[in-house]
Amino acid sequence: MTDDVRNQPARTLEEQLAETWDQLARAVRDGKHEWHLPVVSTVGLDGCPEARTVVLRGVDPVDRVLAFNTDRRSRKPSELEADDRMAWTFYERRDRVQLRISGPTTMHADDEIADQAWQSTALSSRRCYMAPHAPTSRLDVWDPNLPEGLFASSPDQAASEAGRANFMTVRTRIDRLERLELHHDGHLRALWQWKDDGSVDVSWLAS
Ligand SMILES: Cc1cc2nc3c(=O)[nH]c(=O)nc-3n(C[C@H](O)[C@H](O)[C@H](O)COP(=O)(O)O)c2cc1C
Repeated sequence: MTDDVRNQPARTLEEQLAETWDQLARAVRDGKHEWHLPVVSTVGLDGCPEARTVVLRGVDPVDRVLAFNTDRRSRKPSELEADDRMAWTFYERRDRVQLRISGPTTMHADDEIADQAWQSTALSSRRCYMAPHAPTSRLDVWDPNLPEGLFASSPDQAASEAGRANFMTVRTRIDRLERLELHHDGHLRALWQWKDDGSVDVSWLAS
């Protein structure tokens, strides 16, 4: 027996990646999963980083895609138009796992991808896209920014369609994924980088 834990990681890199995809898929479905609310960062129009919380709405491990929905009147679309790079940050407290994920990002407002995302958007969430003021617009006085008559309720299906024009879904194609798992006896930190031909470069990183 030895207490030397060097070169004896708790799990292989393959196991860690598989578990990461599993947990991300769970986080889409489970609102209580801490990865349900990642922070996404863009390059602001003035070159400054811009970071904000969103709801994780989709994960596709085959195409390596993460998705969230947003109001097309918000600031993110113009930032992504100018620079399509987006970084996602996740932290899960129970297992103490941080993910830092990035890649080129596409916006979908009027295509089939957007239609599908809209179809799976709950009426309560559709209400957000019916807000009278564009997100981030300046207000002289506080305003709930909710549609008339729906301050405390969701729209019905027909009324909710008014939000469709403001809705878009945003998808990042992952080309870099870094995972850090904290342990008292040695953190696990690793990086996966995918190339254009689909091959992946994997490496442990010093933590
Ligand atoms: C818990 C939580 C969830 C949020 N989810 C989303 C979301 O899914 N999409 C979104 O565009 N904004 C979401 N927001 C609001 C954003 O954090 C941000 O304030 C808004 O999108 C405006 O950002 P922008 O000015 O950078 O475009 C959420 C905020 C919180 C606190």
